Amino acid sequence: MAGKDDLAAGRRSPRAVRARRAAIVIGLLIAAVAAGVAWRAGTWSAAPAPLSAASAAQIEQGRALYAQHCASCHGANLEGEPAWRERKPSGRLPAPPHDDSGHTWHHPDEVLLAITRKGMRPPIAPVGYQSDMPGFEGVLDEAQIRAVLGFIASRWSEQSRAHQARIDRAHRDPR
Ligand code: HEC
Repeated sequence: MAGKDDLAAGRRSPRAVRARRAAIVIGLLIAAVAAGVAWRAGTWSAAPAPLSAASAAQIEQGRALYAQHCASCHGANLEGEPAWRERKPSGRLPAPPHDDSGHTWHHPDEVLLAITRKGMRPPIAPVGYQSDMPGFEGVLDEAQIRAVLGFIASRWSEQSRAHQARIDRAHRDPR
């Protein structure tokens, strides 16, 4: 029995000890959850924003860059080259559309960025793959490449944009 004498002797009752232990365990759990949330928030904000979430300013910048650097092959209206599914006499593929009718929105951001930076090169394409898609590294800086792809993403339907955002999230965090 925890009585006056125990308390007087500086000992706590078993019940008080249990309550204190429970409080410590709960406190540690809360701290762990908070740390987890903070860590995730940290990695999220450290990662660049998804292309599908480009700002209005990025989209405007991207629109001009697209007209200047991409439209000649991918079409002024993102419609791609005619008969874009059939190989040219050279054996190479034509430029596909960047709108919903193509497959740009089937790829995670990292793949779209890599293709735009380097063209169709390994590891995206097989070694020795022949393609007319030029790499824009050295022509456009990283912010411009993001802007032009952000503009392209802004032209997808709500559904396709959501689909691409899901693919991108799964690619970033494959858990
Ligand atoms: C000289 C023509 C040409 C220009 C200019 C060009 N592209 Fe391409 N692009 C292609 C071709 C051709 C392909 C298909 C390549 C293949 O599959 O071999 C392609 C494919 C792509 C793909 C992959 C699409 C998919 O669904 O697989 C992306 C992304 C892309 N281009 C982005 C761009 C961007 C962004 C620009 C402008 C900054 C641009 N391209 C300018 C010819 C071009």
